[in-house]
Amino acid sequence: MEHTRRNKIVDLLKSKDFGSEVLVKGWVRTKRGNKNINFIALNDGSVIHSIQVVVEVANFDENTLKLVTTGSCIAVKGTLVESMGQGQHVEIQAKAIEVYGTADNETYPLQKKGHSLEFLREIAHLRPRTNTFGAVLRIRHAMAYGIHKYFNDQGFNYLHTPIITGSDAEGAGAMFRVTALDDKNPPMLPDGHVDYSQDFFGKETKLTVSGQLEAELGAMALSLVYTFGPTFRAENSNTPRHLAEFWMVEPEMAFYDIHDNMDLAEDFLKYLIQYALDHCYDDLEFLNKMYDNELIDRLKGVLECSFERLSYTEAVKILKASGQSWEFPVDWGTDLQAEHERYLVEKHFGKPVILTDYPKEIKAFYMKQNEDGKTVRAMDVLFPKIGEIIGGSQREENFDILVKRIHELNIPEKDVWWYLDTRKFGTAPHSGFGLGFERLILFVTGMSNIRDVIPFPRTPKNAEF
Ligand code: 4AD
Ligand code: MG
Repeated sequence: MEHTRRNKIVDLLKSKDFGSEVLVKGWVRTKRGNKNINFIALNDGSVIHSIQVVVEVANFDENTLKLVTTGSCIAVKGTLVESMGQGQHVEIQAKAIEVYGTADNETYPLQKKGHSLEFLREIAHLRPRTNTFGAVLRIRHAMAYGIHKYFNDQGFNYLHTPIITGSDAEGAGAMFRVTALDDKNPPMLPDGHVDYSQDFFGKETKLTVSGQLEAELGAMALSLVYTFGPTFRAENSNTPRHLAEFWMVEPEMAFYDIHDNMDLAEDFLKYLIQYALDHCYDDLEFLNKMYDNELIDRLKGVLECSFERLSYTEAVKILKASGQSWEFPVDWGTDLQAEHERYLVEKHFGKPVILTDYPKEIKAFYMKQNEDGKTVRAMDVLFPKIGEIIGGSQREENFDILVKRIHELNIPEKDVWWYLDTRKFGTAPHSGFGLGFERLILFVTGMSNIRDVIPFPRTPKNAEF
């Protein structure tokens, strides 16, 4: 087939240019028909819909047509014509077919439709070829683009924070170690510990759990910054909402207090949901039909309400008065579990909720302390079906208070001296938050397992693809 530019199926399906010559390339979803005429559904990933290719068998070499099976990759030259069939308004009358790659009927794992999501996780290398994963991956792309567009339009600077780090930003979970030492024979200290001073970076290093601490350094110069990158947590949480490698969006703003921070979080989430409705409607309609028939209504519902804002203390009162029986009992001072968060959002308020002013013991060292001496200016945004989608806070900008907290928590000052310097030189009130990108994609797609909204999930005992 000569070198002409291929037509994307997304464009052809919208075209009214009947009679024009077109060239499409893609993967065969199905082939059906009889000995005179074949119908091929061809998909190139540019849109959820496949285009119908009509093949008059008599005009083609029998052996070529035999190779056109579900999963094979082909190029088709033909004429775009108005379709008489149901469900599409255009189709292609094929004139020439070239087979790029065959897919054996017996062994191609996606031979049939309707595989379970669990099965598809075992073939993560092929699942992008299903309608479901095509839809999820296009939405994921659109959301990443929407995030950059939102912040760019608001005057934020995209700051690239390091993935390899010597500090533990959250002080919460286990981290993955990064080392270039010989694992069979690492240099040892007399006390029996590995001597990381001889390692690549001259110190012990890990994969980051958050870009926040470095984002704060950026915000103390550029005012408005955000990071958007992979983050890693070596917790053994095998839940439908946790990954060991996930992407986080972390804006950090000088001169923002906790109220400005909440306003930004709410506006940002609504912008992204509107962006999905505006740019991914075909994919959302498909997911709404196949998986979650309340999806589109739920997305619109979030746009129409204003998020409920209340303190952790008020939330605990509501939960205790609810008469519900919890798997994890609630009491002031305990961390809220997904069951509590979802009760507040789904049952009590019926809309997204922002909780603030959590007990300082259950939050990170950097959060601004309230005058009561017990709580910090934290904020968690809780969403229907998800629970926590955003975690953030106003930051403690006072040097003495921050150093005192660091000592109380036994964080070595030598690990965070550079962070403390921002409070020593031109400190400023500031705030920020982290949006779990996959939790956003869960919400927007209506999928129920986080493993199904990232191309290659990293979870305990799973890093095959
Ligand atoms: O609440 P987290 O731990 O907050 C931070 O890391 C702060 N440094 C953010 C900031 O203020 N800049 O995480 C933020 C969000 C959570 O609300 C959740 O959506 C997501 O990241 N998240 C995870 N997503 C998937 N898998 C995990 N293991 C996650 N842990 C957190
Ligand atoms: Mg959190």
